[in-house]
Amino acid sequence: MPSARRTATPPAVPLIITLDGPAGVGKSSIAARLAGELGVAFLDTGAMFRAAAFTLGEGAWDWTQGILQQKLGDFEFTLRGSGKDTVLLLNGQPLPEDIRSEQTGLWASQLAVVPSVRAYMKMAQIFLGQTTSLVAEGRDMGSVVFPGAQFKFFLDADPEERARRRCRQLEAQGKPADLSAILTSINQRDHQDRNRSIAPMKPAEGAVVVDTTHITENEVLEKVLAVVCSKR
Ligand code: DC
Repeated sequence: MPSARRTATPPAVPLIITLDGPAGVGKSSIAARLAGELGVAFLDTGAMFRAAAFTLGEGAWDWTQGILQQKLGDFEFTLRGSGKDTVLLLNGQPLPEDIRSEQTGLWASQLAVVPSVRAYMKMAQIFLGQTTSLVAEGRDMGSVVFPGAQFKFFLDADPEERARRRCRQLEAQGKPADLSAILTSINQRDHQDRNRSIAPMKPAEGAVVVDTTHITENEVLEKVLAVVCSKR
């Protein structure tokens, strides 16, 4: 079973804030900063799918449900720290930087359509949310995993703008960035994530939708914080 280490004295009912949206929209940065403002952990659920895809390898989405269940039975995700310093561990180890590649993102998106993988991830995420307060980001956090979350958001932006942001991020890290390849990958993942039969990416009922195409990260954070602070 997955487990979560506590980051601070948690409230009797953990605070859960969900932040869903497509690839490259900036969910992780906003989720980490929001979690920092609130003094809670942030859960990057895309990293969980990426870690599974990276560990199991190409083609794992074609394995039988039984084999996948058995392999995932050896996985244990835990959380340490809060805000930007939150660390997601798989079997006690930090996730490798290689999970961030475009290729692993595509593999993760393919693996994410498989029922036994989604069932495992949902169980692991719910368990983490039962033991610690979280800002959880992904595709189905508000709609499927935490439908009772106290606050739900859906961030969106034009695919071209998301591809440009991803390029700038890679360039800032001194890595090669091919805008048209990134845009193709983003469109492919959007298509897979929106059209799968289980837990397709969509705004959850009651989610506040924020179009981030023309606003800065600071402005997005301000909008999200304003909603949270107005109701707490
Ligand atoms: O957020 P990300 O780009 O790191 O996510 C990688 C892939 O994982 C994404 O394309 C689809 C899948 N995913 C998912 O199906 N459900 C989530 N809650 C998070 C990610």
